[in-house]
Amino acid sequence: MQANIVTLPGDYIGPEIIAQAVKVLQAVAVQYGHTFHFDERRLGGASIDEFGVPLTEETLAACNAADAVLMGSVGGPKWDGVEASRRPEKGLLALRKGMQVFANLRPCTIHPQLAGACPLRPDIISEPIDIMILRELTGDIYFGKRWRSEDRKAATDEMAYSEMEVERLARIGFEMAKKRRGKLCSVDKANVLECSRLWRETVAKVAKDYPEVEVSYMYVDNAAMQLILRPSQFDVMITGNLFGDILSDESAAIAGSLGMMPSASLGSGTRGLYEPIHGSAPDIAGRDIANPLGTILSGALLLRHSLGLEDEARAIERAVEQVLDEGYRTGDIFSEGCTRVGCTQMGDLVAARI
Ligand code: IPM
Ligand code: MG
Repeated sequence: MQANIVTLPGDYIGPEIIAQAVKVLQAVAVQYGHTFHFDERRLGGASIDEFGVPLTEETLAACNAADAVLMGSVGGPKWDGVEASRRPEKGLLALRKGMQVFANLRPCTIHPQLAGACPLRPDIISEPIDIMILRELTGDIYFGKRWRSEDRKAATDEMAYSEMEVERLARIGFEMAKKRRGKLCSVDKANVLECSRLWRETVAKVAKDYPEVEVSYMYVDNAAMQLILRPSQFDVMITGNLFGDILSDESAAIAGSLGMMPSASLGSGTRGLYEPIHGSAPDIAGRDIANPLGTILSGALLLRHSLGLEDEARAIERAVEQVLDEGYRTGDIFSEGCTRVGCTQMGDLVAARI
């Protein structure tokens, strides 16, 4: 098949990790006889430097015309002084909104080879952990009105959700639960927030269409605790933008490293935005030591969800497992007896095993 993929390396370690994911996708193209066209564009600070804004209309249009978009990471100290409305992160949020990718899939599994990197007691992770955090991505406090008083001494961020926004996400969650272990946990703060009460009512309505799925409701504070007390209880978790941001970082700690975690953001069609869940790691940028596996695994999700290439997606996931089995580790997941490798070398190792 032929596919057009826009790449948005972004800032700091972004270009380093995107280069590895592209290398691996090229290896897939060669092995399986596909042609992937890569169109590299600027996002975040890189776009501010070149065009004065974190996302240009041309870039957004290119993303909306592509089959899929692969993003690295945005932001960093270089642009800390930039006014709030033009920060690098704004580019990413505008991209998510502009592509209408409201459903953010953040899978959390513990690679058995990395069990030692999980900070939880071995008995807590003795049962298999396979959680799909489904985070709403284009609503919530991320996109509500913001206000700052003239004297700068008071501020407001508005949290807003509509039934439509909750319902479309919930449907995706229930469909996923059906194909997985049949369990869905909806996470909110309905004991305090009106948005969360709407969220819960809406999920309960949608649940009626999925009698085969066992649904539960949890307050986000309890969910944060349950995730580390007994992570194996969760199958699909659905939650809003802010809670999902926080819980997915927590799940990354369980998996051993933020650097391992891929994500897929989908809308109503197959076009998607794929990105690792970590940030731009300015402290290690330019040293070729970042872990590219989260981005490489995001490439696997791209093949699966946007291009429908399941075998090829599995080939990437298998190659990553193999490299871990062989003991190769970047610094963030390194342990005694393993072979420490850099970012480029990790990309080479995975690509060679496709
Ligand atoms: C993430 C990140 C972003 C978010 C930032 C960079 C805006 O933390 O993808 O989890 O909060 O969504
Ligand atoms: Mg985050």
